[in-house]
Parts: sequence; structure tokens; C-alpha cells
Amino acid sequence: MAALPQRPFIFDSSSPLSPARTEINTHYLSDETEVINKLIPLAKLDAAASARVQKHAAELVANVRKNRGRSGGLDAFLKEYDLSSQEGIVLMCLAEALLRVPDAETQDKLIRDKLASGDWRGHLGGSQSLFVNASTWGLMLTGQIVGPGESAVKDVGRFLRDLVSRAGEPVVRTALRQAMRIMGHQFVMGRTIEEAMKRASKKDGKIYRHTYDMLGETALTRADAERYYASYANAIDAVGAARDPSQSIFSAPSISVKLTALHPRFEFANAAQVVDEMTPILLSLAQRARENNIALTVDTEEAEVLDLTLELVERVYRSKSLDGWEGFGLAMQTYQKRALPQVEWLLQLAREVGRRMTIRLVKGAYWDAEIKHAQERGLEGYPLFTRKASSDVSFLACARRVLDNRDLVYAQFATHNAHTLASVIEMAGDNHELEFQRLHGMGEELYAEVVGEDKLHYPCRVYAPVGIHEDLLPYLVRRLLENGSNTSFVNRIVDEAAPIDDIVADPVAAIEAEKHKPHPQIPLPVNLFADRVNSRGLNLHDSSELLPLAEAMDTAMRKEWHFTPVINGEKLSGREVPSIDPSDTRRVVGVVEQADESIVD
Ligand code: FAD
Ligand code: 2OP
Repeated sequence: MAALPQRPFIFDSSSPLSPARTEINTHYLSDETEVINKLIPLAKLDAAASARVQKHAAELVANVRKNRGRSGGLDAFLKEYDLSSQEGIVLMCLAEALLRVPDAETQDKLIRDKLASGDWRGHLGGSQSLFVNASTWGLMLTGQIVGPGESAVKDVGRFLRDLVSRAGEPVVRTALRQAMRIMGHQFVMGRTIEEAMKRASKKDGKIYRHTYDMLGETALTRADAERYYASYANAIDAVGAARDPSQSIFSAPSISVKLTALHPRFEFANAAQVVDEMTPILLSLAQRARENNIALTVDTEEAEVLDLTLELVERVYRSKSLDGWEGFGLAMQTYQKRALPQVEWLLQLAREVGRRMTIRLVKGAYWDAEIKHAQERGLEGYPLFTRKASSDVSFLACARRVLDNRDLVYAQFATHNAHTLASVIEMAGDNHELEFQRLHGMGEELYAEVVGEDKLHYPCRVYAPVGIHEDLLPYLVRRLLENGSNTSFVNRIVDEAAPIDDIVADPVAAIEAEKHKPHPQIPLPVNLFADRVNSRGLNLHDSSELLPLAEAMDTAMRKEWHFTPVINGEKLSGREVPSIDPSDTRRVVGVVEQADESIVD
């Protein structure tokens, strides 16, 4: 028999995961009620502290609402082109759809030739898909829920033709380009690192620290991965060169990196190859950041690549070549059931390595997609919590552990939520060594109450994406989902009809009060259909599920199969034919004795 096939899809089974990593995996899809019940005691504050947090958060919300100005982008746009809000929002939606057209030449053609031809739908899908984010744009840019209006939704082509005949094609074309620029400007700090650093050094930016993220993710070709690597390397050098030498590693500007940008097959199925190839790549970026005396944080992306991410982070972090540098860091998503074991793993690792690391706690930006993926795959459970308040509770539980271990890690809290922020401040006590973080284009009004000597005097770092329109779309879509979701703090705070007490409600109390901890309207993947049990899929991204599977496959492979014709329960002999494994034709799986004519008779 030929040799058994390799198992390229899992880490080398001869070096099993450490107990801390195994503990993380155990929680991948575990029971939501069990997980949240364990987190509650860690997240819970005593009654007096909880009351202080709520009072503080309510004050923050009231101040934000009082000081909330219009963001200006769309206002200025509407003023310049004299378009009503509805028309402006239609143009924003079209501009966003245009980003989905991959090359500039076709974009130009589309704008030039098709603007008034009513042929939008053919290119960009029906108006429903065109206007999915309309109310989010309205909300974000005008502070009001403004839709595109019935006539536009009914017939975009006609709506545009009317607009063009009123305003003139050049005006609409320019407005559309301007809308694309506003969109970019809202969420992107600059097209190049130099442009972004310049913007950050202006008056409004100066009160913040910055972390630059070079837009681009999920590289599909080597060439893309190399391009993204080069842009990260260049950004590290540029930020390092401009860095003020009096700043500490924690206060200096930093870089945030997405691992899916750096390899065309950053997939669990490819783990062995990815780990081999990516370790030197990530290590070289880390060494470069060390030479430049700035920090480098690894972003966390989809749940299915978390294990790969942790493997790479651990390998790089353990490198002796990084000794003396405390700038290596990792973002951790608390919406994942694996969050707390992940924090524990990192604390243990930092203790072992003996060098501080930075931890950025985030709730997580991929919730909608993760839920859908788990359903498509028929997984046993969800990798995430299904109630928003549970992700908040998990954030607070992890925050407590991080704050209690500040000798091992530098604590960073990325949130736009006033209650989360006030809770962290309460838990941190008199030790002010920590940093808040917000995304560029979001949370300005909240942090205006936090940074600065005359305010709460906590530092805040802005996550500043850098890049061109072509690389913006996935990031933009996540921001639109976040701003548009009616459970999101940033969405609720601008809705004047939402009472402040509701917005700053204690998530621990909210979850404790729920009899049913998972969200009743998000059934487990197996219960998705009312009329049948959903088919069950394997979690092909979890080595603890794959190892037993691989062993069972090995056992099955080792068995030599032998089949004969059977008539009336009696095994008969026939002509022996070897049975070949179709996936590896060198391998004989067994023998089939084929019935001959006499047996058939
Ligand atoms: P809140 O409104 O309090 O929380 C919203 C969040 O709750 C959602 O984003 C989601 O995570 C969670 N949620 C919503 N609905 C549900 C539900 N039904 N059940 C369970 N949970 C739910 N995200 C990443 O994924 N990786 C990163 O590396 C990363 N880096 C970031 C860096 C910075 C500096 C910042 C500010 C954010 C970063 N984010 C990252 C994005 C971050 O995850 C979102 O901005 C964050 O979740 C919003 O949380 P909040 O506390 O501001 O808002
Ligand atoms: C995202 O890219 C900010 O990392 C976060 O959505």
C-alpha cells in the first residue's frame, strides 16, 4: 500500500497545542449560556461602582448629544451642488456602489456613459441592493434618518435623468466623484502614509495618538500580498522616521497590520504552509518596527483564522530578536466565546517570554458575516455571542483581567461606547496606565470628553486607515454595518428619541435578567429550518475537531477493503479488481471481486 497522505491542513500533530491554546479551542463553539455565566462574575461591579459608571456614562452621552455638530461632509457637499438631502444620499449610494466596479476605467465609463442612460441596475444590481446603506449614510452625515425617497427607489435611472437634466451632467459627474471622496475622507485618513501623517499632525489630530492601518485584506495573489507587505514596510519606516524621540513606545504612533493581506492563502486549510511562510514575514515587520522604535499590533479578523493568527503571533513574539522591545501587540475580539481563554493564554505567554505585550480589546467587526457563515456551514454553535450585551459583558470580563495584569501587558481599549468606557475607568481605579482607542471618523464627540488635561486626561489612539478607494470597500462595509445597526452605541447615541438611561443600561444586569441567554431569534444552525433538522457540518477551522477526524481517516485508510458479490446472504468469489483511491491513483484501497456472467445468471 502507498504511504498515507500527509495532513497539510493541521499543525504538526507531533507538537500538540499547549494547554492554554487547547482551552481556547475548547471554547470555539461552546454553549453560550455556560460561557456567559462564567464571565458575569468577572464583569460585575458592586452596586456603588455600577451606579457611578452609569452616572458617568449618562453624563458623557448628554454632553455628546449637546455638542454633536453635523459632520460637515454632506452638508458642504449639498451646499456646493445645491442638491436636496435625498438626492445627495442617492449619489452617496451610487458612489459606494461604484467602488464595487473594480477598475477606474470602467468607473469612468460608467459615470460618463451610463449616468443618464438608466442602465445602472444592469451594472450594479437592483435598487434594493443599491440603497441598503442609504439610511446609514443619512444618519452618519446629516445626523438624521433620510432615505433616498420613493421616486429614486422606484426608478433610479429616471431619477438620475431628471437630476442630470436639471443640474447638468458635468455637475452630477463631479458630485459623484466628490461623494466618493467624502466617503473615503470619512473613514480613511489619507491615500498615502505621508498624507495620513500630515493630516494626523494637524490641530485636531494632535491631541490623539495614531495607529496606521494600510488598507487591504484577503490578498488573493502573491503580487497583492507583496504589494501590501511593501506598503506596511514603507509605513513602518515613514512613521519611525517622523517619530518624536521623546515619546515612549506606548505613546508613539504605531502600525496595525491585517494578516490576511500578507498571504494569498491565509486559510486554516493551508495552516502548515501558511505558518512556515508567514512567520518570517510577520517577524520581519516586527523587527522593522523594533528598529524604528514603534509598536506593531496584529488586527484580528474572521473567527476561522484566529487559531492561525495566534500561532503566528506566538512564534513571532517568542523570537529572541525582539528582546527589549515591548511594542508587539494583538487585537482581541470579545464577541468571541474564545475571548477570555485567549486573554489568559496571552497573559501566560507574556509571563513566560518576560517581555510586555500590548493588548487591544475590541468587541469585533465581523459579527453579521460570522453568524451567516456558521449557519451556512451547519456548525454545532456560533463562535460568537448572539446578544449584544453579552459581547459587552465579555469585554468587561476581559478588561478586568487585562487591567489586573498591567505588569505583563499594556492595556488598550477600543470602544465608542460610553458605558464600556466608563466601566473601564472605574475598573482601572487609580492606576491610569491605559489607552483608549477609536476609529477615524467615529467617536470624536465622545473622546472630546475624555482626552486632554481639562477632561478625563486619558490618552486615546485613533485607528487611521490609509489607502486608495480600490482597497476601501470591505472596511467601508464594516463601518456602514456598525453605524447602521440599531444595537450599536454609535447609532443609538444620535437617535434623540432613545432615552439616555436605556443607552447606558448595565449589560451585566441586562444579561442576568434574561432567562434565555442566547438570542431567541438567532436559532442554532441545526434549528434553522422550521420543517426539518439542518444538515450538520464539520468545523474545518478547529484543530481539535480535525485531529480526531484525521485519525479516523487514517484508520479508514489503513483498512484494506475487500468486497465480494453476495447472493442470498452468501459471499461468492468473482474476478478480483483492485479499487483505486480517486484522489491518489497510486493508492490501492482494496479489492472488489466482480460478479461474472455465471453469478449474474
Ligand atoms: P457597541 O455599540 O457597544 O458594540 C457594538 C458591537 O457589539 C458590534 O461591533 C459587535 O461586536 C457586537 N454585537 C453587535 N450585535 C451583537 C449581537 N447580537 N450579539 C453579540 N454581539 C453583538 N474589530 C475587529 O474585529 N478586529 C480588529 O482588529 C479591530 N480593531 C479595532 C481597532 C480600533 C482602534 C477600534 C476602535 C475598533 C477596532 N475594531 C476591530 C472594530 C470594533 O470591533 C468595533 O468598532 C466595535 O465592535 C464597536 O464596539 P463599541 O464598543 O464601539 O460599540
Ligand atoms: C476593521 O478593519 C477596525 O480592524 C477593524 O474593521
